[in-house]
Amino acid sequence: MKERIEALLKEIEEYKDKKESEIEEIRVKLLGKKGEITQLFDEFRNVLPEQKREFGQKLNQLKNAAAQKIEELKNMAAESSEASSASFDITKPGDAHEVGTRHPISITREEIINIFKKLGYAVAEGPEIEDDKHVFESLNFPPEHPARDMQDTFFVSTGYNPILLRTHTSSIQVRTMENVKPPIRVICPGRVFRNEAISARAHCIFHQVEGLYIDKNVSFADLKQAILMFVREFFGENAQIRMRPSYFPFTEPSAEVDVSCNICGGKGCNICKGTGWLEILGCGMVDPNVLEACGIDSKEYSGFAFGMGVERIAMLKWQVKDLRLYFENDARFLKEFETCL
Ligand code: DAH
Repeated sequence: MKERIEALLKEIEEYKDKKESEIEEIRVKLLGKKGEITQLFDEFRNVLPEQKREFGQKLNQLKNAAAQKIEELKNMAAESSEASSASFDITKPGDAHEVGTRHPISITREEIINIFKKLGYAVAEGPEIEDDKHVFESLNFPPEHPARDMQDTFFVSTGYNPILLRTHTSSIQVRTMENVKPPIRVICPGRVFRNEAISARAHCIFHQVEGLYIDKNVSFADLKQAILMFVREFFGENAQIRMRPSYFPFTEPSAEVDVSCNICGGKGCNICKGTGWLEILGCGMVDPNVLEACGIDSKEYSGFAFGMGVERIAMLKWQVKDLRLYFENDARFLKEFETCL
């Protein structure tokens, strides 16, 4: 028995570089049900009691050596198969990686910003989690104004000057006016939140771009010119605008701007509901109360502001019928904007 154990130990020591199938054969030969080591364990029963200790130790040593060797051989085989597959066929074409495309909302936001940059506007940003002062109070919202209603606004805290998710990017106007001395010319992109049921035309999260221009002697004519320039750059040089009187607490006078329908060219279709016009933004002359609330002398300075929804503008430009498509990130939809990059 002693000789057989030693012979096996030697044999085990010499094994190297085996394929996986060979390793399995070795395992069966040594440790399988009828394997040589298993047989030795069977024979161990007949060993004389005074020799049991010595042989027991030797057998265990042999069994451990075999198990360890098999493990080593397996590791070596795995490593070499990895290495050989890595150097397999370098002329084979690689796995195709689909390149992503920019999201239509990012494309549109960027386009709007770039147009206003040409007019000398700088980009300003602000926090999405805001306080009542910057979203409502400094913007001349009377305390009972419906936009403060819990239905529209997601509140984070209640009480004096509650914390909330901004419902519009007009809050960035306030922060800019508080911190920058006029002249101010900024364009403020951002995400906004409203407590609305999600549908094809409304979402609780969307994007806006706000514009603000404050200087001496800024007039409504300047506002109209800036908007017209933007609309023609964005929708094409034949685009027309019309302004309708409107109301926003933070502008006086206020207007809503329509652009001539880019689908029917103004003749009337189902997109513009037969009117030939599509509403694209709100604007107006900054209310003196807002200037004063932000520390700007309303006798010396005047200005205009405007705000537009990025999803809405993108829907009009590309005739997207359902707002929810922007948030679902279906690659088939996103790929349609590949050429707009
Ligand atoms: N903040 C308005 C909204 O969310 C949009 C807006 C209207 C912004 C008129 C303005 C403005 O700056 O002058 O509906």
